[in-house]
Amino acid sequence: MTRFAPSGPLRGTYTPPADKSISHRAALFGAMCDEPVAVRNYLDSADTRSTLAALLKLGAGVEEEAGGVLVRGVGLHAPLEATGGLLDVGNSGTLMRLLPGWLAGQPGGVWTLDGDESIRRRPVDRVAEPLSAMGAQVEARDGRFPPLTVRGAQLTGIEYELPVASAQVKSCVLIAGLLADGSTTVDERSPSRDHTERMLRRGRVPFERAGSRLTVSQVDELELDEIVVPGDPSSAAFVVAAATLVSGSRIVVNGVGLNWTRTGFLRIAERMGAVVVGDLEEPGTEAAVEPVGELDLASAPLEGTEVEPDEVPPAIDELTLVALLGAFADGETVVRGAEELRVKEADRIAGVVDGLRDLGADIEATDDGFVVRGDGSPLRGGSIDARGDHRLAMLGAVAGLASTDSVEVVGMHAAAVSYPGFERDVAALLDGN
Ligand code: S3P
Repeated sequence: MTRFAPSGPLRGTYTPPADKSISHRAALFGAMCDEPVAVRNYLDSADTRSTLAALLKLGAGVEEEAGGVLVRGVGLHAPLEATGGLLDVGNSGTLMRLLPGWLAGQPGGVWTLDGDESIRRRPVDRVAEPLSAMGAQVEARDGRFPPLTVRGAQLTGIEYELPVASAQVKSCVLIAGLLADGSTTVDERSPSRDHTERMLRRGRVPFERAGSRLTVSQVDELELDEIVVPGDPSSAAFVVAAATLVSGSRIVVNGVGLNWTRTGFLRIAERMGAVVVGDLEEPGTEAAVEPVGELDLASAPLEGTEVEPDEVPPAIDELTLVALLGAFADGETVVRGAEELRVKEADRIAGVVDGLRDLGADIEATDDGFVVRGDGSPLRGGSIDARGDHRLAMLGAVAGLASTDSVEVVGMHAAAVSYPGFERDVAALLDGN
């Protein structure tokens, strides 16, 4: 249990940890290359260590270098069956959903992916279904949950309409498409994070987007130059929320990824009154590079807002922070179309609603989101259970800094899944006064 007391302002310059989504992809795509790929600023966290461990088990080489890793790949069509067996994804949903896309295209290979208690509650039928349609044999517990067993096959390209706006499922099908005969098309109704697409473009893979339809074709090999991972906007969002809520704060965030498919929270926060100055990428931009930049932030009074379903995917991992800002804002804040939050590391709708209510918020759950009402005054405080979820743990900490009494976070250690240095970084900004 860790207590976070009301704090003085956050001041100074802050560099967030490396992006988790891009780190997973950099290691995974690196392992699919024939030539070694240097990944600079690879995230050092529990989740991204799970990815490196799985790739080692699959025969790739991973050398930790100062400030990154060198991935010695096995090639796209490697004889992976030689090192098959059980792959432990730990807590990582991204590894659990992306890796099967590669394994499914390895004829003769059999692997079982499993992980911790939380991952065993998260649906994998969303990847089993398209991979089976492409020709792989994929079995999940009760047809829906891990462990997930993948028997590779020569795949055939499909046209697949995503039933959920999920970058993980989209990426899984696109990766399988690299190994499938013909072309593979994924139709995404609502744009989700596009790091996989950007990496495919950089790997000079035949890849096209026509409106919401993404098409990839079979390739013999993959080639990637050095990858430099930007700072994670989702990790930075906790510090952004703290600087917005704690009166007198003024910080500069350096080296943060500003890809428009990830900056939904910053746009929502700005609409609520947050002072966020930065060069956010224009929505709809298609690119091969990941934009990186600086944000200037200052504390500000907030007003309630309505978040509609099309705003959900680019803010998916930060929506619990919208609830937190809403609890300090004047008026009503409503989030709709966010039922995916129920199947994250924890049920984040239940976690944030029960958690913030115990800290004094007027908040209710809906099937697909929540409604929170505030009068512009701060939360009282109390105790919040992280439920084993890294993002709920960090949310509790931020709530404590901005509270009147203090917040005890039960299970703060969960933060290490994505952001082991969170408490140290916040302490440095509190000392920067
Ligand atoms: C991620 C996609 C999102 C996000 C997760 C990381 C990714 O999940 O919540 O933290 O790296 O592709 P979904 O694709 O299931 O929405």
